Amino acid sequence: MKLDVEIGGLRLKNPVMVASGTFGFGKEYSEYIDLSKLGAIMVKGLTVKPREGNPPPRIYETPSGILNSVGLQNPGIDGFIKGELPFLKKYDVAVIANIAGESVDEFAYMAKKLDIDGVHAIEVNVSCPNVKEGGMAFGVKTECINDITKAVKKSTNKPVIVKLTPNVGDIAICAKAAEDGGADAISLINTITGMVIDINTRKPVFKNIYAGLSGPAVKPIALKLVYEAVKSVTIPVIGMGGISSASDAIEFMIAGAKAIAVGTYNFVDPYCTMKIIEGIKEYMKLNNIDNINDLIGSLSTEI
Ligand SMILES: Cc1cc2nc3c(=O)[nH]c(=O)nc-3n(C[C@H](O)[C@H](O)[C@H](O)COP(=O)(O)O)c2cc1C
Repeated sequence: MKLDVEIGGLRLKNPVMVASGTFGFGKEYSEYIDLSKLGAIMVKGLTVKPREGNPPPRIYETPSGILNSVGLQNPGIDGFIKGELPFLKKYDVAVIANIAGESVDEFAYMAKKLDIDGVHAIEVNVSCPNVKEGGMAFGVKTECINDITKAVKKSTNKPVIVKLTPNVGDIAICAKAAEDGGADAISLINTITGMVIDINTRKPVFKNIYAGLSGPAVKPIALKLVYEAVKSVTIPVIGMGGISSASDAIEFMIAGAKAIAVGTYNFVDPYCTMKIIEGIKEYMKLNNIDNINDLIGSLSTEI
């Protein structure tokens, strides 16, 4: 059975990855699962300088997902290279470094620094809703997506994956802007903006008022946006948003996602990615699919 897929020159042993910010740098999860069994690890979003992130509360649970306002807490690019990458290098797994700059130059600077052994691809987060500077402002403007993609492409030889925000009017033009900028792949969705109010204080729960919604609640929206993105570009699309089971993952692949990432559900069940890989294999066996690529984009819309 062939489970390997190729994403813009990057070969993955299977299409199941973990989404940025929900898996740290792998250490905690390595106590539960063999990291080498994953298709890839998308590491926590990196910034030029270390960041402490936003003040608490940072996570709020809803009936079918969570809102987060972590604010890109991370050790900075040098902290990642010196402190985290050596651990990840011990595993036979693709490492995708997620970067979040505050300017085009910062994105380019980080991409250049990460053009090193042990980093297999760069994921460009043009879409973080929790950082006041840049973040969302970049991701909603097609010129910005295009400029950042071009600058990152010029600074690295690694495959470049552009991560899109769902908080836009037309995902197709954002996907196209990334493709036109030279992206090797796109990934989506990042979290959907939401808010919560404490009825006793009558104040927003989060200091930034808004936070990012993820988990099962966002899956149907994510699936639709991934499908729209797939239709608008020729580069591979990595789908994520609310995936918690093999059947969720398979839905995204039928819609055309070449690979998928699991985010919030890692917090619920640290073994979920292993279960998803096994579930995909079972589905393939049951449906006589020898090569996962035969499943990708197999949606029939004829009614
Ligand atoms: C706590 C938390 C932190 C996140 N941090 C990042 C981040 O640093 N960079 C990024 O690109 N996405 C980040 N995300 C977004 C996820 O990678 C993913 O796109 C989103 O949560 C949708 O997938 P899910 O519903 O499976 O969680 C974060 C999500 C959560 C829940």
